[in-house]
Amino acid sequence: MDTTSVWRATAPGPGFAMLQDDLQCDVLVVGGGITGVTTALLLAEQGRKVVLLEAGDIGGGTTGHSTGNLYVTTSQGLSEIASQWGADVAREVVTQRKAAMDFVEVQSRRNPQAAFTRCNLFLWARDAADQDGIEQERQALLEAGCLVRMDDAVPAGLPAPVGRVLVLQDQAQFQPQAYVSDLAQRAVRAGASLHEHSRVVELDLKTRTALTATGSVKAGEIVLATHSPKGVHLVHAEMPVHREYVVAFEAGAQDPGPGIFWWQGEEGLSIRMLGHEGRRYLIVAGPEQTTGTHNAKAALMAVEQLAGKFLQPGQPLYRWSAQNYRSHDGLPYIGRDHSGCFIATGFSTDGLTWGTLAARSIAAQLAGQADPFAERCAPGRFTPVKGARTLVEENVTTLKTLVQDYLTRSQHEHLSSLAAGDSAIVEAEGETFAAYRAPDGELFAVSPVCTHMGCKVRWNSVETSWDCPCHGSRFRPDGTVVEGPAVTPLRRKQVQLG
Ligand SMILES: Cc1cc2nc3c(=O)[nH]c(=O)nc-3n(C[C@H](O)[C@H](O)[C@H](O)COP(=O)(O)OP(=O)(O)OC[C@H]3O[C@@H](n4cnc5c(N)ncnc54)[C@H](O)[C@@H]3O)c2cc1C
Ligand code: FES
Repeated sequence: MDTTSVWRATAPGPGFAMLQDDLQCDVLVVGGGITGVTTALLLAEQGRKVVLLEAGDIGGGTTGHSTGNLYVTTSQGLSEIASQWGADVAREVVTQRKAAMDFVEVQSRRNPQAAFTRCNLFLWARDAADQDGIEQERQALLEAGCLVRMDDAVPAGLPAPVGRVLVLQDQAQFQPQAYVSDLAQRAVRAGASLHEHSRVVELDLKTRTALTATGSVKAGEIVLATHSPKGVHLVHAEMPVHREYVVAFEAGAQDPGPGIFWWQGEEGLSIRMLGHEGRRYLIVAGPEQTTGTHNAKAALMAVEQLAGKFLQPGQPLYRWSAQNYRSHDGLPYIGRDHSGCFIATGFSTDGLTWGTLAARSIAAQLAGQADPFAERCAPGRFTPVKGARTLVEENVTTLKTLVQDYLTRSQHEHLSSLAAGDSAIVEAEGETFAAYRAPDGELFAVSPVCTHMGCKVRWNSVETSWDCPCHGSRFRPDGTVVEGPAVTPLRRKQVQLG
C-alpha cells in the first residue's frame, strides 16, 4: 500500500546529497526530523561545525507523518501531568511548550509553505462517561493559566458532543514537512553539512565516530535525534510504543475550518483540515495501537469507517501511519544519557512541540547555558512512585512477548505455499523464518529475532514490515531497519525451495 502522507505529497524535500566523505565536526546530529533539523540550525547559528546524517529523507520519519498540530497541553492531558507531578510542573510544561510554539511561529514567518495558523483546540466527548475527564482537563488548564472556555457545540460537520466542549484558545497548526525542509535549507546556509540517504550503521561511542555505508563522521558531541535513540538505552525499558493510522480525505460538504479537533473516548478521533493549492483535505487520525500486536489493516479500515460514519468525507486520498514512544511519567527524556550522547525521546504524540523544545534545550546545554526545565527532563531520572503503574502495566507486553515467543510453536507454513503478497513465520529444516513473498513473486526470508534485544517480530500488513512489539524496531521484508532502536538489519536467510 502507498503510505505517503499528505504532508510529504504536498511539500518537496530539500534533496541533499549522500555522505561520501570522512568528516570531522563539533557536533554530529543523527536524524533529520523536527528535533534533529532544529538542533542543527541552532548549533550552526551558534557558529559550531555541525554535520547531520539522515537515513532517508529530511522529514521522512515521524515528523512528515504526524498531524501537524501544536498545543501547550499534551495528548494524554495536562491533568495527567498535574496529577503525577503537581500544578507547578503542569504550569512549567505549559510555559515551555508555549515558548516552543512561539519559536515555530517565528521560524514560519519566512516560509508561507509552512502554513502556520493560530487556531483553537476543541476537546469533547460523545459518551457521558468521558465528560469527567474533560472537566478535569479544564481545571488543570485554568490552573496553569491557559485561556479556556466551555462551548455548547462543536463547529459544523463534526460529531455532536454529549456535554460541554472545552475550547483551548491560541494554539496552532502547520505543514510539518514544509517547515522542516525550510529549516534544513537554512541550517545549510548557516554552515551545517546535511546528508540524506546516509544511515548511521555503526556508532563507536569511545571514538565518537559514526559510520555510514559510504563515509564516516568523527564528532566532539553526538545528538541522537532518531525519535527513539539507536542502540541499547535505559529509556527503552520505560517507553511503551504505539502506532496510529491516519487518513487524508477529500473534504466533504461541511468544513469546520482551522482548529485542532479532539473527540475523546473509545471511538475518538483527532481531526483537522488542510488547504493546499485550492484543495481542502480532511485529516483524521484514529486511536493508538500497541506496535507489533495489532492487525494493521483492520486498524486503518476502522479509521476510514469511523470517519465515513461521523464526518461524511469525500474520497480517501492519502493513508499513512506513524509511531509514538511514551515516557513513563508524562515528561519527555531530553539530555545526555549514560551513553554520553544527547538523546531526545518519549514525546508521545506531542513531539512537534517537544522536539522543538528538545532542540532548544540541547543547543542551550551545549552552549553552557542554564536550563532549569532540562533537569526535569533528564533521561536518567527515575520516578518510581509517579510512573510505576504505567511502567508495570505496559511492560507486561514486553515480558509476555519475550517469554511467549520462545515457548509457543511458530505457525507452520511451507515457504513454497506462500502466495504473492503473503507473509508468515515459517519453520523449515529446523530453522524459523520471517518470510514474505512480494507481489512480483520474489521471496524474502529473514530471521524473526529482532536485532535490538531479541524479541520476535510480527507482520504489519499496511506498511509491509516486520515490527517488534518490545521497543518498536521495524524492518523491511529484506531485513533492513525502518525505525526504532535497532541498528543492525534482521539476518537474511538462504531459502531452499522444493
Ligand atoms: C500519527 C501521529 C501523529 C502525530 N501528530 C502530532 C501532532 O499533531 N503534534 C505533535 O506535536 N506531535 C505529533 N506527533 C508526534 C511527532 O510527530 C513526533 O514526536 C515528532 O515528529 C518526532 O520528531 P523527531 O525529529 O524526534 O523524530 P522523527 O521525525 O521520527 O525523525 C527521526 C529521524 O531519524 C532518522 N534516523 C533513524 N535512524 C537513523 C540512523 N541510523 N541514521 C540516520 N538517521 C536515522 C529517521 O529516518 C528520521 O527521519 C504525532 C505522532 C504520530 C504517531
Ligand atoms: S525493539 Fe527492542 S527487542 Fe526489538
